Amino acid sequence: FHVDMDAQETDKGPYPYYMLKEIDEQPNVMRKLASLYTEESGKTNIDSNLINSLKQADRIYIVGAGTSYHAGLVGKKLFEKLAHVPTEVHIASEFAYENPLLSKKPFFIFLSQSGETADSREVLVNVNANDYESLTITNVENSTLFREATYTMLLHAGPEISVASTKAYTAQIAVEAILAKALGEAKEQVIAEEFDIRQQLGFVATGMQAIIDDKDEIEQLAKKYFVHANRAFYIGRGIDQTVSLEAALKLKEISYVQAEGFASGELKHGTIALIENGTPVIGIITQKRTANLTRSNLQETMSRGAATFTIVRKGLAQDDDTLIIPDVDELITPLLSVVPAQLIAYFTSLNKGLDVDRPRNLAKSVTVE
Ligand code: G6P
Repeated sequence: FHVDMDAQETDKGPYPYYMLKEIDEQPNVMRKLASLYTEESGKTNIDSNLINSLKQADRIYIVGAGTSYHAGLVGKKLFEKLAHVPTEVHIASEFAYENPLLSKKPFFIFLSQSGETADSREVLVNVNANDYESLTITNVENSTLFREATYTMLLHAGPEISVASTKAYTAQIAVEAILAKALGEAKEQVIAEEFDIRQQLGFVATGMQAIIDDKDEIEQLAKKYFVHANRAFYIGRGIDQTVSLEAALKLKEISYVQAEGFASGELKHGTIALIENGTPVIGIITQKRTANLTRSNLQETMSRGAATFTIVRKGLAQDDDTLIIPDVDELITPLLSVVPAQLIAYFTSLNKGLDVDRPRNLAKSVTVE
């Protein structure tokens, strides 16, 4: 008998697509990062030279493309809240040619699953030419961005093969959270000292598993409301807004539903004109301070005919919410709120009969500028 399978097929195991396998791997990646980058005592375990360099910086510049850029948007909140360091996030292809004004002591963080994105590398070449220090957070050891940065941290997510990035996004956020805590502690920020990232990542892993175990419910939702939709919107405020961008990107790239993520308060300044009968609008609600505001923005779309849904943290849930995700610290809710959105995109693509892992016109890693 002969085995007519290449190594990649074998890796996929029982999964129809890599994307589902990679979504499923996320709880383990969270546990792995907790055990590699923190100690049992809860202390972080990160290169002290890196922390010392970061401590000197008066501003952090995060650079990335696509999903990695979206992970950077979450990172900004983490570095600002936990370490009180002003942080800017830049799209690599914009930064390279705009020459933004820099602070006196900038520190650069490159986020890249592949470590090969040409636009990000272009920025790093300039950073090195100016003798600024940098950190690359990547999934691929010895990749170009890994080799050329001053410091490196690995995502330890295992190979990500599906074009749509899932576990790299959550791994990037987890690493940023650990790093922001370490930096915040070095700067004697009480909020960082009290933030038990090791314990939180344990909660996240369990929470992710609970969401994944309920995926049939998400498939029903996708089949009923997304497979036939022309367009869809994700809305949220603050950190939930950043997740709305990533949630929309997932949906558009693999299911070809035109999707946008929006600051929920901004929708009514134009985009609400696109709402028709049955247009799906999903509110992401994980922050106590803004929960009611997003709920009333959702209501506004509903009264224009939208089919509205919610992804809500348990502590804020109400009777008619759609998908309830477990409670974790409000700083790291993207690690959970993105998972239902990944699954909505997956099941929409699957039920449209599309090639989930290899969407048209897209490449896993973009090595041209
Ligand atoms: C491509 C991929 C995306 C990815 C982006 C950045 O567009 O399809 O999934 O987010 O590149 O890639 P990087 O490897 O730098 O994270």
